[in-house]
Amino acid sequence: MTTVTIMPEGKTVDASEGQSLFSLIKGAEPEDHKCDDACHLFVLEGRKGLSRMGAEENDRLDMIVGVGSKSRLACQATVLGTEDVTVELLSFR
Ligand code: FES
Repeated sequence: MTTVTIMPEGKTVDASEGQSLFSLIKGAEPEDHKCDDACHLFVLEGRKGLSRMGAEENDRLDMIVGVGSKSRLACQATVLGTEDVTVELLSFR
């Protein structure tokens, strides 16, 4: 079991291997028809505890303002279960 800390609230949630950050934060998986690239967040700690970034995520991030080296999309990044993760919500609604 891995712990994901969600900033700025500091809320912690237990995560299982393969769970997406989106489901951990929102309590449900994204609905494709409502996707507007609004799940951008920063990974403050534990980047190696998340799945590697794929081409689709990389392409979507290229279209978002304010992207940095810590950026991930919560709907694409899944927990590996190898280390705890801390994320900071940005435009995520
Ligand atoms: S929910 Fe659409 S990019 Fe993440």
